[in-house]
Amino acid sequence: MSDTRVSEQAEIKPVDAQPQPVYLKDYRPPAYRVTHTELKFDLSATDTQVHAALHLERHPDSEPGLPLTLHGEKLSLKHIAIDGQELQEGEYQVDDATLTIPEAPDRLRLETVVVIDPQANTALEGLYLSNGMFCTQCEAEGFRRITYYLDRPDVMATFSTTVIGDREQLPVLLSNGNPVERGELPNGKHFVTWEDPHPKPSYLFALVAGQLEKVEDHFTTMSGRDVTLQLWVESENLDKTEHAMRSLKASMKWDEETYGREYDLDLFMIVAVNDFNMGAMENKGLNIFNSAAVLTHPQTATDGAFQRVEGVVAHEYFHNWSGNRVTCRDWFQLSLKEGFTVFRDQSFSADVNSAPVKRIQDVSFLRTAQFAEDAGPTAHPVRPDHYIEISNFYTLTIYEKGSEIVRMLRNLLGWDTFRKGSDLYFERFDGQAVTIEDFVGCMAEVSGLDLDQFMRWYSQAGTPEIDAHGEYDYANGEYRLTLRQRTPATPGQPDKQPLHIPVRVGLVGTKSGEDLTLTLEGPEGKENLGKDGVLHLREDEQTFVFTNVAEAPVPSLLRGFSAPVKLRFPYGREDLAFLLQNDSDGFNRWDAGQRLAMLALDDLIAAHRNGVEKVMDPRVTEAFRSLLNEPSDDKAVLAEMLTLPSEAYIAEQQPMVDVDAIHAARNFVKQWLAVSLRDEFLSLYRANQSDAPYAPDAEQIAQRSLKNVALSYLMSIEDEEGVELARQQFEAQHNMTDVRAALTLLVHSSRGDIADPALRAFGEKWAHDPLVMDQWFSVQVTRPQSDALDRVKYLMDHPAFSLKNPNRVRALIGAFVGQNRVNFHRLDGEGYKLLSDVVIELNRLNPEIAARIITPLTRWQRFDEQRQALMKAELERIRAEDLSPNVYEVVEKALA
Ligand code: ARG
Ligand code: ZN
Repeated sequence: MSDTRVSEQAEIKPVDAQPQPVYLKDYRPPAYRVTHTELKFDLSATDTQVHAALHLERHPDSEPGLPLTLHGEKLSLKHIAIDGQELQEGEYQVDDATLTIPEAPDRLRLETVVVIDPQANTALEGLYLSNGMFCTQCEAEGFRRITYYLDRPDVMATFSTTVIGDREQLPVLLSNGNPVERGELPNGKHFVTWEDPHPKPSYLFALVAGQLEKVEDHFTTMSGRDVTLQLWVESENLDKTEHAMRSLKASMKWDEETYGREYDLDLFMIVAVNDFNMGAMENKGLNIFNSAAVLTHPQTATDGAFQRVEGVVAHEYFHNWSGNRVTCRDWFQLSLKEGFTVFRDQSFSADVNSAPVKRIQDVSFLRTAQFAEDAGPTAHPVRPDHYIEISNFYTLTIYEKGSEIVRMLRNLLGWDTFRKGSDLYFERFDGQAVTIEDFVGCMAEVSGLDLDQFMRWYSQAGTPEIDAHGEYDYANGEYRLTLRQRTPATPGQPDKQPLHIPVRVGLVGTKSGEDLTLTLEGPEGKENLGKDGVLHLREDEQTFVFTNVAEAPVPSLLRGFSAPVKLRFPYGREDLAFLLQNDSDGFNRWDAGQRLAMLALDDLIAAHRNGVEKVMDPRVTEAFRSLLNEPSDDKAVLAEMLTLPSEAYIAEQQPMVDVDAIHAARNFVKQWLAVSLRDEFLSLYRANQSDAPYAPDAEQIAQRSLKNVALSYLMSIEDEEGVELARQQFEAQHNMTDVRAALTLLVHSSRGDIADPALRAFGEKWAHDPLVMDQWFSVQVTRPQSDALDRVKYLMDHPAFSLKNPNRVRALIGAFVGQNRVNFHRLDGEGYKLLSDVVIELNRLNPEIAARIITPLTRWQRFDEQRQALMKAELERIRAEDLSPNVYEVVEKALA
């Protein structure tokens, strides 16, 4: 027996051995493939034994003579044998990342026994303990912390997994596929054996063991098969499963009806876990969820949380085809599954809720957060060509921009052809690990379109900018629209090529207020585009000439946000007010309102900086007045229209971010509108009050958001009646959406006399519920008052807080650094220091979370010199630590 204790010693690397990048161009097929994997886990908190038997054979496409090299980290090897023969020293080599067998036969059964320590696993990758429950997270490279394996997505095997555990402590033992055997063992143990007949890569492996209770339901598939659906939770959460189960059934049905995709096992399980780095994970047949992304109850979860759960349940379920049946060849192709699956879950949520609001929310998020990423030091293409730590690439660019690219394909092809391409993709590549070319190739094949230039969307980082301007020629009835595109340089990509950008446009007649018919002057003569058509921008600059334009138009550009770009057009404020009233495209009507508000905000930001009196643009007030007095939209859209651009979005539009000026300008607009339209807001509030029993449906959600938007205006001026309404709304404790909205407005006001007792009552009532306490943390640390930072420090010592739990970290630290801009960016640098202290601590505990929470510090280039210096000093302080590859990669980029 050899005992190579690599786990502890491998921690400290010499300073000169910095982590090295992996390159897409170096991709090679693996030397071996695994046809079948047998696993046996004997679970124990500190010494779990993992017995693996891998059926290996040489890969037909591999270079001859390559040794058999398996990945493995933090494993203590106890035993190794080939075809029943114990290996001798010298027949294999082990280091801190691999196990190599130079002279392995072409076909073999490799057996290993390793011991791992789930309790010491605070990184939450591989097998770990959460609240006494064993669970796994293997994507992207966590499986190598469980056993020696070819831990790469192009190695796909069937799995047979036996889980052994204490009968009392671990009554429930789960893994992928179907349970085929169970029984009792000596010493109070029992076991269950699971078989997963679908070949899968190791990143889709899952195991869960603990004291769990289940809620069960059924779904009959389109071919008439019965699927058992199980949701496993801790017993105190049994009353929080209904919405997730309903969402799951709706997703299964939607994927059958929309994409023709049927579920392929007899059992589908979801488990809720308290400690989880991300939202959830699509392991085959056994999805593991962050409890925050699956549990809901009207008293504990807001409408936003209900909608998030619906979206995440759908996302993970949809991965069963876009990800599991057809997976990625290598991790550079991550957006192949994530971009497509986000597009699918966004479409699902749009179908079951308000479609225009879903689009507005998705675009707001993209334009605020993804655009910032694409403009910062960690900008990367949707298909990166190198990385140091793949966990750092589960980004907004891979997910959200990736989804926008798929959406552009859908729009370029039209739904029916896109669906044919999707069918072809799933049929041709079922059971395979493929590339983004394979996906786009199917779309090109079914449509006959040339998508070569379009592929640049995957390889070029940065947000393209389009400068548009138009001229109306009265005499000839012509409108000439010139579009010029440019993608700014990003790290490692100084020069950019023009992209193929679909720009959906309409021309709105200034007299009629109607969409004019578009006749485009093309190389092959005139082309009729109807009332709204797509222009294909392919060159650096192109002019589009519309003929027979009977009246002067205002162009409505990039309708529905047809491409993920920044589009500038010299709209006058009257034009924007006109589009806000008349645009037939709901998204652009909302966007016109945002642009109008932005113009006013720009003036006010300048006034604040120059210390001159702030003057409100009356056109904004009038636009809001007409929205309130003649509401033409559904309530959900109206609530979005009445919401001012966020501070983060405003900051994105500024050449240099002045956090205080932005905060002051936005408050000024809000208060001005509240004073001017006080009665309108009050009646809007009253008109949308209701004591109907809570339901998370589109109608009620719209009502609540409209009511709470109205309340936020009234509270911005601490209107006496408004304060009283907020107090009553909190006291009524009708549902968490209303309670949290009221509590937030009170805590963010100067009315401590009401806010403090409310906070105390809330904290006591919910002390037992960590997901509600997360909201209690967030509400407090986002208050704009100058004591926010002290509150963060104080709350970090609260018994309900722990740096080891990612949800707590996000709720307290993440909310402060991400949403409390005035306080995080304090000029004494204390906000930055707090964040870097947390990053340094998390770098040891949980590198993946450390590398994410650090994001605001990496954006130092956007601020004034004084703040830049402070932020860089903190990054340098972090750099001096012994860094995980995760944090190392981000800090190096930020300081490059
Ligand atoms: N595939 C998962 C999802 O998007 C996310 C896995 C994230 N893993 C990670 N190490 N960051 O559904
Ligand atoms: Zn995903």
